[in-house]
Amino acid sequence: SELATSSPPQDFTGVKVLVSAGGTREPIDPVRFVGNRSSGKQGHAIAEEAAARGAEVTLVTTTDLPVPAGIERIRLDTAAELHRAVMAAAPRCQVVVMAAAVADFTPVAVATDKLKKRDGVPVVELVPTVDVLASLGASKAPGQVLVGFAAETSDVVANATDKLQRKNADLLVANDVGAPDVGFEHDTNEVLIIGRDGDQHHVPLAHKRDVARAVLDRITTVLHSVGRADEEQS
Ligand code: CTP
Repeated sequence: SELATSSPPQDFTGVKVLVSAGGTREPIDPVRFVGNRSSGKQGHAIAEEAAARGAEVTLVTTTDLPVPAGIERIRLDTAAELHRAVMAAAPRCQVVVMAAAVADFTPVAVATDKLKKRDGVPVVELVPTVDVLASLGASKAPGQVLVGFAAETSDVVANATDKLQRKNADLLVANDVGAPDVGFEHDTNEVLIIGRDGDQHHVPLAHKRDVARAVLDRITTVLHSVGRADEEQS
């Protein structure tokens, strides 16, 4: 309704939220990189929706998309830079959303000069990057809510559930990137939000801002339940 869009609930007031967005670029030489098709739109929509609901937002992004005033924006390119920035900011955040498509592999070395055709076809040797989401999961503070993303092309639920458990996330937002109008480069998305107890919340094809709203609704629920669990423990 008109009212809902003009005055969102202020349920994130006083909550510090860290969001990563976009696809990392791993340089091969001064002019080339290994990249991926992430546009950053879903991560940016989550950052904007969180800020609109009162959160103090830090957005780590590989994109030049415009960011509303009031959101702290950290612009970077590589998986290593993203790892450093996210691990530095995460300890002071109650919510961390890893929407970025972080490279799983990076060239072992960056050529200082542009690779020349006359030197023949290059062999680019890749090495694994640090898994930022898994690192966050391993060092998760009590009460902190960790949200991962999964772009799958098959067995969406099984793969996403496995990812949530392996990386110790609280919520996993899975999309089927093989489906039409879903995921990379689109303004719309269709996702399944999976929780730790196996609960599934389907968000039918909608604008990424609407998907962001649904993700934040799930985060609020988890925030309140972890908050209560921590109080009961102490
Ligand atoms: N991720 C990360 N650091 C990486 C790679 C991925 O933090 N180096 C995060 C993404 O931000 C996203 C989730 O992990 O939240 C996506 O995981 P994905 O790359 O799909 O999982 P993998 O363990 O690499 O599984 P696979 O490639 O086998 O699907």
